[in-house]
Amino acid sequence: MISAREHEAKEVTYTLKTASEAAVKIWPTNGDFYFDLQLGPTGFYTTGKVKFGDTFLTLASIPAYSEYLAASFAHQLFSVWKEHSEKSSSEEKAAERSQFNVLECGAGNGDLCVNILAVISRMSASFPQWADFFSVIQYHIVEISPALVDRQREKTERFNEKVHIHQGDATNLAAIFPEEKMSAVFSVELVDMFRVEEVEVNGGSKVLGLAVPMIDLIAGEPYIKEAGLDLKELIRKTIEYQNMLDVFNQNKAIYFKTPPDEEQSFTPIYLSGEDFFKLHKVYVRENDPNQKVFAIGHAQVDISFCPPLADFFKRHPHYGKSEGLIYPCLGILPFMQSVKSVLTAGGHVITVDYGETFTEMGWGYTTFGSTAAKAAHGNTKPGNNPDADPGFIDITTHVDYSLVADSGREVGLSVLHYGELPQMLPPNADINKMLTPSDRNSYVDRARNFKVLVQTNAIAADSPTRFFGGSKKVYSAEVIEEKKQKNMRK
Ligand SMILES: C[S@@+](CC[C@H](N)C(=O)[O-])C[C@H]1O[C@@H](n2cnc3c(N)ncnc32)[C@H](O)[C@@H]1O
Repeated sequence: MISAREHEAKEVTYTLKTASEAAVKIWPTNGDFYFDLQLGPTGFYTTGKVKFGDTFLTLASIPAYSEYLAASFAHQLFSVWKEHSEKSSSEEKAAERSQFNVLECGAGNGDLCVNILAVISRMSASFPQWADFFSVIQYHIVEISPALVDRQREKTERFNEKVHIHQGDATNLAAIFPEEKMSAVFSVELVDMFRVEEVEVNGGSKVLGLAVPMIDLIAGEPYIKEAGLDLKELIRKTIEYQNMLDVFNQNKAIYFKTPPDEEQSFTPIYLSGEDFFKLHKVYVRENDPNQKVFAIGHAQVDISFCPPLADFFKRHPHYGKSEGLIYPCLGILPFMQSVKSVLTAGGHVITVDYGETFTEMGWGYTTFGSTAAKAAHGNTKPGNNPDADPGFIDITTHVDYSLVADSGREVGLSVLHYGELPQMLPPNADINKMLTPSDRNSYVDRARNFKVLVQTNAIAADSPTRFFGGSKKVYSAEVIEEKKQKNMRK
């Protein structure tokens, strides 16, 4: 029988507008939700559930590739240092001769850091210029996850005079370095995890996905008890939410990305974002990986409910032109602003990740979860789905390099180079002498899936691109669109 309170909840009537207004207060956007599953208090990274080099392989943490990757960075950093110190005239450049600050953002286990410094140290034994370089390099890390900061401190201990680890957010570097400047800021597989919203473009309308989490009444019961939540209250809210979601249903503005398996009986209790994360705290502590506890639905609201997104489409009108689902990354512009604020004049920003330019990507490859990871790591593990086991898996998107380049331009960074990662280590560099030639082929095969973008705040025409073998321009989205239009007219 329906109680008086439940009846009262049923009485509320919604239009799509009022339901949307209520929904954005109850449920996070997909971007916020998936971001928290990685970097919120119960996130995959924050809790240290991520096991680099073990169950989770990144280029920097796979021993077969890590030395080549480290050598590529060592070579590039050495080239930047040489160029800066040769051209030194200003005070800043003179300062670089006594201390050369480099910054890695998002350092995982600290593998790249320790490997780069080991390579430079080995080069120092044979090349006096490298010894000079080793004496001045100061390696900073900014890492958001406290659990990973601990691992990085341990791993880099033997270089502790050179390594400075700061716990903080790479999208707010000015708060960490109010005065100190960096000659190079780099990251590997960081940008693919920045906040990405899911937008559906349909004719003239653009709608934003909200995450509507659910827990199964039966499998979820122990978690509900353990979290101290009141089951009756959750059921009352479920009725209220169902009433609201009916409106989304009628407007075809609700969908399920991972409906519970058909054979499995799943009695959904709809959860607010807040209640989900209370339960998630218990789940990540006590999860039985074979049990299906959560399912995630998605309701759609107009993008005007998310001002940064509405602003994104104004700044990048071409990103709303293709129909269907697209994934604008809202984290890139703040990252570019942040990096620019700590960069020396003529400093370099080096971004390594999997991804493509806007045209190559055509949005089709961009996804939450498995596809990007599969492409990059050959990871074919079944069930690598962001909704299937929240908090226990990596959630990424392919990097849209045109957007990185465009956002950089917005803050005054121009592109020096864009290409495949293996180009970062030209075969004629001194450093190749200390690497195993037979490993090079397998590294090149794997690293080809990764791109490298180098930006600088120096005037591009004035900056040599001699660090790399080849160079490929990253056009802005506007230029790409113009080219497309021209081709269509032909
Ligand atoms: C996919 S992992 C890559 C780690 C390492 N670079 C590698 O390739 O093995 C991303 C790293 O960036 C960190 N991270 C993510 N967002 C960050 C942010 N906004 N600021 C600083 N670190 C961040 C994560 O905690 C993690 O260490």
